Amino acid sequence: MTIFRNLLFTAIFLFVYVVANAQLNTSRAIAYCAVQADKTLKSIPADSINIPRSIAYGKKDWKFVDFKDWCSGFWPGILWYAYEGTHDVKYKQEADKFSRELTPLSMMKAFDHDLGFQIFNSFGNGYRLTKNPEYKKIILSSADTLATLFNPRAGTILSWPRPVPNMEWPQHNTIIDNMINLEMLFWASKNGGSKKLYDIAVSHAKTTMKNHFRADYTSYHAVVYNRETGAKIKAVTHQGYADNSMWARGQSWAIYGYTMCYRETKDPVFLDFAQKVSDVYLKDLPADLIPYWDFNDPAIPKAPRDASAAAVVASALLELSTLTKDKAKSKIYRKKAEQMLRSLSAAQYQSREKNSAFLLHSTGHKPNGSEIDAAIIYADYYYIEALLRLKKLQRGVSIYANLKS
Ligand code: GLY
Repeated sequence: MTIFRNLLFTAIFLFVYVVANAQLNTSRAIAYCAVQADKTLKSIPADSINIPRSIAYGKKDWKFVDFKDWCSGFWPGILWYAYEGTHDVKYKQEADKFSRELTPLSMMKAFDHDLGFQIFNSFGNGYRLTKNPEYKKIILSSADTLATLFNPRAGTILSWPRPVPNMEWPQHNTIIDNMINLEMLFWASKNGGSKKLYDIAVSHAKTTMKNHFRADYTSYHAVVYNRETGAKIKAVTHQGYADNSMWARGQSWAIYGYTMCYRETKDPVFLDFAQKVSDVYLKDLPADLIPYWDFNDPAIPKAPRDASAAAVVASALLELSTLTKDKAKSKIYRKKAEQMLRSLSAAQYQSREKNSAFLLHSTGHKPNGSEIDAAIIYADYYYIEALLRLKKLQRGVSIYANLKS
């Protein structure tokens, strides 16, 4: 009897071990994304407000926005990734069409820091995959526009050039999300743009490192600076639970942003910082590794999750796993990223028949009561980006290479 019981326990242990460590089927997950994208393409309205942004909890229909919305670059970016993942030219044509809708942003005065999210996710991915010189011109011009928001006294880019509650306009504000937009400045400085764009990006990242973090490396959402002297006035939240809480997506922008800064500069200060902001995030996650929208919401475990933060972090950790010099850490980052993607790819998080997004359960702006437990386009963007990165790693190729069929 004892032998049979031991054999049974061993078999159960082996089964659980194999399931937990099985490679995620990235081809299948990318094919799923393409099927969902096809459904969304069929629902696009025939007017200028035609870029999918989010689907409310329990609903099927997208809320559409126009090119000025901060989320306008994610949908064309998804289509570029769908093209890279499937090599179906249909996605290339659609990606080109939706990217071009954003062209006016490259000719307008800067009205927000989000130009990087908008232009680099769309035209940036488009240029990476096609080398179309028109796209390059648009990115270079947008990088110059973004640089007009830089305040050399503060050392950072002005994120919101307009009155926003609690930001003491006309003082200078910078939000942690702004880290992502530096990627377009780095790229432009290396592809024909001014060297000043590189210096602005480095100044922004280093000043943010100094002013935007608590002693435990958790991030504040927003910092207000005196616009004349550059002195820090205060650090507060806008989309988080409280000024001192860790808003999950804010921390995810920090993880992604400092990983990218290390890739672009090779300054070890950024690598060390990327690891610190990642480690504090990884310390306190639920079992499925999908964070609650804010790590300090007292309503946990009844608080909503934020699948978008998980997708951003999964993608960033895959990159960080290839950059870190510490082999043990590299293994941990890769393993955690894979676990996050496995959770996101399960029935609980994939939208499947519920709607045509890729993922459910993201939280946009909880204090505002908007996009709570919703399907949000940026979750889908980072999810498919992370799947492509993982597929490349599984094939033993660089995450920076374009995926071959
Ligand atoms: N403001 C960008 C975000 O909601 O993460």
